[in-house]
Amino acid sequence: MMTGEAPLNTRRSSNEAAPPGFRALAEYITRELGIKMSDAKVPMLQSRLARRLRALGLDSLEQYHRYLVSSEGAAERPPFFDAVTTNKTDFFREPQHFRYLVESALPSLDPGSDRFWNAQVWSAGCSSGEEAYTIAMTLGDFGAARQRFDFSILATDISQRVLQAGMDAIYEKPLIAPIPEELRKRYLLRSRDPADELYRIVPALRSRVRFSTLNLVGPEYRVSQSFEAIFFRNVMIYFDKPTQERVVCRLCRHLRPGGYLFIGHSESLAGLDVPVRMVAPAVYRQALTGEP
Ligand SMILES: C[S@@+](CC[C@H](N)C(=O)[O-])C[C@H]1O[C@@H](n2cnc3c(N)ncnc32)[C@H](O)[C@@H]1O
Repeated sequence: MMTGEAPLNTRRSSNEAAPPGFRALAEYITRELGIKMSDAKVPMLQSRLARRLRALGLDSLEQYHRYLVSSEGAAERPPFFDAVTTNKTDFFREPQHFRYLVESALPSLDPGSDRFWNAQVWSAGCSSGEEAYTIAMTLGDFGAARQRFDFSILATDISQRVLQAGMDAIYEKPLIAPIPEELRKRYLLRSRDPADELYRIVPALRSRVRFSTLNLVGPEYRVSQSFEAIFFRNVMIYFDKPTQERVVCRLCRHLRPGGYLFIGHSESLAGLDVPVRMVAPAVYRQALTGEP
């Protein structure tokens, strides 16, 4: 520890006051990212920012906040967003959704096999790409059994670190465990050096996934296409109810009529005024034009 540095003590009792700077940072996080930050998050924020404070030679959350919001602090915002977001994800996480996508959702939107169909799916809050590539593998197989079908996936997140990992598309062996063996054979390449035990998504799938920075609570979504399905899973769990409602309504504007919204199984749209109705666990659908 540097001389004069405030100890980044991660143990605190529940009635202890939040350290100076914590509330200002918490408000900044909620305003910029929509993420709720109660005083219970003090240890988490301290431990996640400890490395940033050391890198900048700062002694306290208060100093860090002052730097972050200053004009010189603009370059600190991406590493700050990397540090404060929770990026847990997996290939084939909540796998029933991928079955639903190809067994129910897409067949209900099929324009007919005499028409060319370029299906669009958005992974909003995509983390390091596992969700987007799972969708890509699922659609790759769906397309192999169908004429005149192609697909594109938009994968967006606020964290540059995870977006870069998604673009690199290289995953360590334990991460690929949930991918069924036959899909691994088709869609993964193993590193040349077997000692590395690294796997890369094949170029044909990588080329169908476009990664982009997008803040779901930011002023505008620079997204022009409309989507057959939007995966918005395990993101709004960190938002308060009004933010959840606003973000879901904004996302739904990018669904094509009859399009589907997938949320995490531990999330709910109950009590929110949103233009979709539940059709399966954690799956919602926008009305087809003309439907009540
Ligand atoms: C727990 S991960 C979920 C990843 C994936 N959707 C899944 O279910 O496996 C949540 C992701 O949401 C992103 N996120 C949080 N707030 C965001 C915001 N305001 N705008 C865009 N992405 C955000 C985080 O960076 C993180 O990568």
